[in-house]
Amino acid sequence: MAIQAIIFDAYGTLFDVYSIGAVADRLFPGRGSGLAELWRDKQIEYTRLRTLSNTYKPFWEITQDALIFSCRKLGLDLTLDAQSELMGEYAKLQAFPDSLAALQTLRDEGKKLAILSNGNPEMLMAAVTAGGMQALLNAVLSVHSVKKFKTAPEAYQLGPDTFGLSAKDMLFVSSNAWDVCGAAWFGYQTFWVNRANLPMDELGVTPTGSGSSLTDVLLFMGLGQKPLPAPDRLTQPS
Ligand code: LAC
Repeated sequence: MAIQAIIFDAYGTLFDVYSIGAVADRLFPGRGSGLAELWRDKQIEYTRLRTLSNTYKPFWEITQDALIFSCRKLGLDLTLDAQSELMGEYAKLQAFPDSLAALQTLRDEGKKLAILSNGNPEMLMAAVTAGGMQALLNAVLSVHSVKKFKTAPEAYQLGPDTFGLSAKDMLFVSSNAWDVCGAAWFGYQTFWVNRANLPMDELGVTPTGSGSSLTDVLLFMGLGQKPLPAPDRLTQPS
């Protein structure tokens, strides 16, 4: 069966988290990229620890905890003002320039569209509204409703539950390799938006398709105007 619904990860996939590193570098000159990287790693690590040990806390709070730890580890003095400025970036993230056009094209093709994210509903709605995406999405799904973060199967189950479709008839799109692996293990077809040109994680998963932008998702779906990229950059749906 052809792909009927497409589910997107949020942070780094539809929403550009680059601004966070830029603000971090302004607050801590020369240390911003190191802080942004450790912050992101700790944020994801805390989601996994809390899911494994059944100690769920909303993503906003986890993000704040990870920021506090990362600054302490790096010896950076995180004032309350700096903390609220950095956390505030999450509340006003911009969509990537290719996000809206990709969503619009897929929507015009009659595809059902959703976000499925670790973010709690308030964070997601702020980003969706700031990005002008509300009218294009059938659903904004937060793991908050199951109190387990990706890659828990219960989190990915929100897709089939929402659309009444089998995971294999849906495409899960993420820029995070680990998220692509979780979605593939769950049973989705997957597309890896490898924006940072990283190697795939060594977890035995080959995404159904991959490319460097959301425009490549359109090509994968047989849509869009761009010339076809080299065969090793793009694989077609099975
Ligand atoms: C999300 C993070 C993992 O949106 O990017 O779920």
